[in-house]
Amino acid sequence: MRNKLAPSLLAADFSKLESELQDIADAHYLHLDVMDGHFVPNISFGAPVIRRLRPLTGLIFDVHLMISHPLKYLEMFAEAGADILNVHVEARDDIAECIKKIRALSKRAAVTVKPETPVEAVFPYLGPLDMALIMSVEPGFGGQPFMPEALRKAETLASYATRHGLEIDIEMDGGIDVSNVSDVLNAGVSTVVAGSAVFGKTREETRRRVREFLHLMG
Ligand code: DX5
Ligand code: ZN
Repeated sequence: MRNKLAPSLLAADFSKLESELQDIADAHYLHLDVMDGHFVPNISFGAPVIRRLRPLTGLIFDVHLMISHPLKYLEMFAEAGADILNVHVEARDDIAECIKKIRALSKRAAVTVKPETPVEAVFPYLGPLDMALIMSVEPGFGGQPFMPEALRKAETLASYATRHGLEIDIEMDGGIDVSNVSDVLNAGVSTVVAGSAVFGKTREETRRRVREFLHLMG
């Protein structure tokens, strides 16, 4: 599976999103962190912002729903332009129902685990899943330090998937930069989210950081 870079919009300058998107155009996914102030202690942005961004870039939209009740909003995010819909296994809704709904909307389905949740929590859902996201920080904020315990979880998931003949894209999110991205990939991760390590102070810096990541990711 080819490695993918997913810059997280949360670290971008929200007053100039169009140029920020141009500067990360060589990446693969745009990681979009939706926070409801309930599932996580922070509020970010919702479907109207995603809808406005959709025509500005060809990147695949990877929507990370840090919300307590994703089920009733899946259709709205699909219509806004999401390609991948990521629900937390710790959310209050029936996860199997969420996955069924995402697939019925013809979108790619992903399930996410918080740092304190064992990765085994996603095993029952792996069959119909396209991707599993392992958080390497406590969700809610960008710019936090990487939790190395996440690497073991990726290894566990990767070997379980191999043993059971399951194709699954493993994504990791939080605290990833050019110094630890190789460890992340070596643990079996194929999709790397990076926010503060991608968006720089200048346009040139952002472009350079994307190039650096892509170089290290092979
Ligand atoms: C945290 C978000 C992450 C975050 C990553 O709740 O899910 O996607 O934006 O940001 P960095 O790479 O700065 O840790
Ligand atoms: Zn995220």
